[in-house]
Amino acid sequence: MVAILVTGAAGQIGSELVAALRRKHGVAAVIASDIRIPMASTSGNAGPFEALDCTRPDQVQDVVRRHNITAIYHLAAVLSAVAEEKPQAAWSLNIDGLYTVLETARQYHCAVFFPSSIGAFGPTTPRNRTPQDAVQRPTTMYGVTKVTGEMLGDYYARRFGVDVRGLRFPGLISHVAPPGGGTTDYAVEIFYQAIRYRHYTCFLRRDTTLDMMYMPDAIRAVLELMAADPAKLAHRNAFNITAMNFSPAQLADAIRLYIPDFRIEYEVDPARQAIADSWPRAVDDSAARQEWGWGARYDLAAMTKDMVATLSTRLKPAR
Ligand SMILES: NC(=O)c1ccc[n+]([C@@H]2O[C@H](COP(=O)([O-])OP(=O)(O)OC[C@H]3O[C@@H](n4cnc5c(N)ncnc54)[C@H](O)[C@@H]3O)[C@@H](O)[C@H]2O)c1
Repeated sequence: MVAILVTGAAGQIGSELVAALRRKHGVAAVIASDIRIPMASTSGNAGPFEALDCTRPDQVQDVVRRHNITAIYHLAAVLSAVAEEKPQAAWSLNIDGLYTVLETARQYHCAVFFPSSIGAFGPTTPRNRTPQDAVQRPTTMYGVTKVTGEMLGDYYARRFGVDVRGLRFPGLISHVAPPGGGTTDYAVEIFYQAIRYRHYTCFLRRDTTLDMMYMPDAIRAVLELMAADPAKLAHRNAFNITAMNFSPAQLADAIRLYIPDFRIEYEVDPARQAIADSWPRAVDDSAARQEWGWGARYDLAAMTKDMVATLSTRLKPAR
């Protein structure tokens, strides 16, 4: 019997991952959890919910025990921009929370999914076609916690046989729940502002090229990795994956195909620009392709078309 616990389930990824896991395994088999109550807009996720602070070992163990959990999808984390503002809080959640989840998984024999990030790389990493195995010396607290998380995951797999798997997500673009304070949030905000006001002020420089992915691909990647034959996984944890690669100026051009009078301006936020400048421009995801058959379905054009069409049914242009 599969019984899944999702931490941080009210967030940008969790809001859509919970629904996908429930479609696959059944509503009752997936326990959503978060420190806050999910927004009404994600009530399509109706099903079991536990209020859970994943830095609290007693709470995590209690939920895992009561629901006979077999796999934990651990999404609760402080994201990159917020982590630079509150590095102590980021360490506490991203490391203590992960450690609590891994220890619980070891004791109760659960598999673990852990999302890492392109933020696990740093300025000394090769920035173009960043290899799966490359120098990782991030200069942000977010990156430090992600590298540590990747290493802890590998350690628990090797030392204790815990089935820990993970992905290095690029910036994720979606329209269900808002992003939680990352450096790539502009690529979501821009659609809301373009449809409502035909104008967006971007906090990154116009030529800041980063890897990105549309949420349907990201959710499918999680499901496919967790279902993959473990014998074929040489890396298991922290796979590079990507779907598309663009700058704010290129995204604005793609949006102008649908909203011709859309205007973008730039007011660069030095803190978030510095984070983006320390990250790869484009990662090489061939290990994921070879080991578990990864392949993205949405490129910039397909993602933009779907985002504009979906949000246009929900948002009214301002007069
Ligand atoms: N969204 C992206 O673009 C992106 C990219 C790369 C990696 N990731 C990683 O994916 C994971 C999920 O990201 P997301 O975008 O859904 O984040 P998010 O910020 O949208 O959601 C995180 C959730 O964690 C919850 N939370 C905070 N403190 C908690 C605690 N102590 N206990 C339990 N829950 C708590 C928050 O309430 C929130 O709902 C994170 O590990 C993030 O680093 C995300």
